[in-house]
Amino acid sequence: MIVSARYLLTIGALLGGVRAKKSLVAPKGAEVLTVGVVGDYGWVGWTPVPDHFCLEVLPELVADGITIPNEVLNDCDPGDKSSLANATVFQTDTAAYIGQVCSMKNCSAFISVGDSIYDSGVDFSTGGILRFQEAWVDMYSQGVFEHAPWYQCLGNHDIVKGQSAVDFQTKIAPKYDSRWYFGTKGLPYYTYDLVGKDWTATFVVVDSDCFLSKYQKNTSVYYNDYTIECHKHTKVQVDFLAETFKKSKADWKFLQVHHPYMSSSTNYTTDLMPLIKIVEEHNGIVINGHDHCLAHYVFNSTNHILSGGAGYTQAGDCNNGIKLGPYAKFLAANAEAAANGFVTMDISKHGVNVEYYTRDMQFDGSDLYAVKQDLMPSYSFEITKKSK
Ligand SMILES: *[C@@H]1O[C@H](CO)[C@@H](O)[C@H](O)[C@H]1NC(C)=O
Ligand SMILES: *[C@@H]1O[C@H](CO)[C@@H](O)[C@H](O)[C@H]1NC(C)=O
Ligand SMILES: *[C@@H]1O[C@H](CO)[C@@H](O)[C@H](O)[C@H]1NC(C)=O
Ligand SMILES: *[C@@H]1O[C@H](CO)[C@@H](O)[C@H](O)[C@H]1NC(C)=O
Ligand SMILES: *[C@@H]1O[C@H](CO)[C@@H](O)[C@H](O)[C@H]1NC(C)=O
Repeated sequence: MIVSARYLLTIGALLGGVRAKKSLVAPKGAEVLTVGVVGDYGWVGWTPVPDHFCLEVLPELVADGITIPNEVLNDCDPGDKSSLANATVFQTDTAAYIGQVCSMKNCSAFISVGDSIYDSGVDFSTGGILRFQEAWVDMYSQGVFEHAPWYQCLGNHDIVKGQSAVDFQTKIAPKYDSRWYFGTKGLPYYTYDLVGKDWTATFVVVDSDCFLSKYQKNTSVYYNDYTIECHKHTKVQVDFLAETFKKSKADWKFLQVHHPYMSSSTNYTTDLMPLIKIVEEHNGIVINGHDHCLAHYVFNSTNHILSGGAGYTQAGDCNNGIKLGPYAKFLAANAEAAANGFVTMDISKHGVNVEYYTRDMQFDGSDLYAVKQDLMPSYSFEITKKSK
């Protein structure tokens, strides 16, 4: 096809327009700003690899010494495959629930702690774009979601496809939908401020995938070009956190990451220590996901807020509601189930009011997690000790 110069000019102008388009940000100047913290959600539209391949073909290929792409291995995960039907309903119902609570509470933005797209995430391919549309763009599109930015963060499911996955989420997704915020430099780590009438909150987003030593084993599905490289340079992200917190005069300083330092299933104590030390020096606050439940931990005087309940919940991730030590202040789980839900933070000069919303999980004629009044918080606490 011969394309006219005039047509090319038009296309150029269009792309120019796209390039100039800025992501949405939270409104400035509020006395109290409410944000929703959401994690571990994007299941809808995931098509796993068929059983025939995973159970019969794959073992033969492995025996023949053929390398299987991580994406395929991960999309064969038997646990995730069996969860899919329930996970799809849980994400959808929880999205509606978050919308309901947030229209009541007037949430102005969402803060994501990652695992935005299961199972092997998105990359710059047709399949990636379709998943992004289905699991995120269409899922969170109505009511309060319509104009609220999501300050994004990478989780392990988001990086299975390596650099292309990271590029999609940091550089392409923000152009596709202006509500998807990933900093201004196209990097997997960034900072932003929420600015109120007489207060500021500084958030630093770090990719904890780069810090996990177990992802550096060549048998890990998370071992790829991106994680190999960023693991060599974790100091870049540690220094970024240290410098940003040092320069910031904010009342409240948050570290926003996917993996938990404190957990009821797996503490990533050693791996994440360099980051947490900096948070502790500044009286900061940690928000994370990865464990598929909601919890509040206090360790070394630092609050760790877990909000991993917006998709498929797992009681074991919150140790079936049994506290492993005095650091565990709240676990939204019992012997059978963990609650779907999310966390809101009402940020002001005076403090950060943290509320945990758990959904009454009516499902298939039974109630998987009964909550009498699920439009009220199940648990809350207030942070009044300022960051420094
Ligand atoms: C919701 O919060 C925003 C940001 O603070 C504010 O501008 C707006 O007036 C609030 N809306 C309502 C209905 O309170
Ligand atoms: C899905 O939900 C049904 C109905 O509550 C339950 O019986 C089943 O065990 C769940 N499956 C998974 C994998 O969670
Ligand atoms: C994986 O690592 C092990 C031990 O570190 C090594 O022996 C093996 O050759 C590696 N395999 C590949 C495919 O790189
Ligand atoms: C995590 O660390 C805390 C504090 O040291 C400890 O009490 C708890 O048992 C650890 N959790 C797990 C799952 O090992
Ligand atoms: C906890 O606090 C103690 C005393 O302030 C400090 O020595 C230690 O390094 C802290 N632990 C972590 C994991 O930050």
